Parts: sequence; structure tokens; C-alpha cells
Amino acid sequence: MRKKLIAGNWKMNLNTHQASVLIHRLEENLETHKDVEVVICPSVMSVQPLNLQINKRKMKLGAQDAFYEDEGAYTGQVSAAMLHGVVEYCLVGHSERRHVFGETDDVISKKLAAVVRNRIKPILCVGETSTDRADGETKQVLHDQVIADLRNLTAKEIQELAIAYEPVWAIGTGDYAKPDQVKEATDFIRHNVRELYGPKAEQDLRVLYGGSVKPDNAKSYMDIEGVDGLLVGGASLNYKQFAQIVNSAHESTGN
Ligand code: PGA
Repeated sequence: MRKKLIAGNWKMNLNTHQASVLIHRLEENLETHKDVEVVICPSVMSVQPLNLQINKRKMKLGAQDAFYEDEGAYTGQVSAAMLHGVVEYCLVGHSERRHVFGETDDVISKKLAAVVRNRIKPILCVGETSTDRADGETKQVLHDQVIADLRNLTAKEIQELAIAYEPVWAIGTGDYAKPDQVKEATDFIRHNVRELYGPKAEQDLRVLYGGSVKPDNAKSYMDIEGVDGLLVGGASLNYKQFAQIVNSAHESTGN
């Protein structure tokens, strides 16, 4: 049985003090469920202090991004090697990295390899734009991203991988995907991983949904067979909403 995974992506919000206050509130309000793992991805400024503050039985820490070289003349970058020992997880290829910062699948595949090399568990984000969907290209886009992003990794190296299906048109828009759209896309992601690495890899793979997840829709995604978790943006900044989403995951029947 795969453990459910609820990850909160705080994006570029909250200074170090505000981050500490929100973690405190979460620790007071989150119920611990044996079947649900909770991961918080704060700004890189806050990962170090939160690593000292956080109760790791309740929550784990994740980074939002990591550079693919371990060290060197890369002004402004933070490497996976630097994050090793501080975070347990790292997002890779989030749609904002792809679309705001122009990250290609080539860059993302190198980042994924760096995260794995540094023994951090990756959450790879994939998803189509509204134009891709309107053009009937959703499966092609997902296929191309999965194949290109995973190309540097062996079956052994993807053992800890999670893939988040995040349709770009649903992120931060309130325009969330319908469960049958999520089912179709997440099944297809599983199918691609099975083709690449075989049935065991697919069975172990955790697949998440992300895009305008709120307390009132969280359970409808978690009830989908093959969906093991959620990547939550906006609602993860509200401790009451995030705690409700974690509880919905526990109550769900999905995976
Ligand atoms: P959202 O963000 O929940 O605010 O739509 C999701 C994400 O970017 O991972």
C-alpha cells in the first residue's frame, strides 16, 4: 500500500518569521494519520530554521527547486547537495519553473538526477497548458515530459519518485480539473512509467494531483483510484484549510 502524500507548496510567500509562525499553527492543528505523509515546501530562506523547529513526526520539509550542479560558479543557485540533510523532498519542474523561468525538459531531467544523486526524494511536476488541452495534445505533452524528464534515471533511482499531475490551467486559477480528467491523466502517467520501468515501478509510484486543491474538492481527487496525494499551493498557506485537506486524504478510499 502506498502511503498518501500531501505536500504544501508555499511558493515565494512568507518571510522566515511568518514561516515559523505558520509551522507552529500547523503543528497545533494537523492531526497525525499513519497513512498520510505531510510535506511542507517553504522558501529556501526558511528551510534551515524550520528544519530545527519542525516536529518531523508531523511534517517533513521539501524544497521548491534545486540546481543540477552540486557546486560552482552559478550565482544565485542553491544545489541539491546543499539541501541534502535539510530537506527530505524537492519539487522538480513545477509549472512556474517551466513557464516563468523557462526551464526545459533537459534542465529538469538534470535537476531530477541531481536530487536523486543527493538522496532527496523528488516530486516531479508535469502538466499541459490550456492550449495543449484545447488542441487535444494533453497525452502527448504528458508523455513527452515524463519520457524526457526521467531519461537519466534507472528503475532503482525512481524508487522514491512521486509525480504530480498539475494542469497548468488549474494552478492558482480556481479552475480546478474534474475528477475524470484527473483520472485519465494520472492513469496515463502510470502507463508511461510502466512502459519505461515495468509494473513494479508503477506499483510503487506515488501520483499526486495539484491545481486549485481546496478543502471542498480534496476528497474527490483522493478518492480516485491511482491518485495517492495532492500538491497544494494557495490553500497550504491557510493552516485550517491545509489541516482539513490532510484529514480528507485520511478519509479517502482512493489508492
Ligand atoms: P494552487 O497551486 O493550489 O494554488 O493552484 C498548486 C501548485 O502550484 O502546486
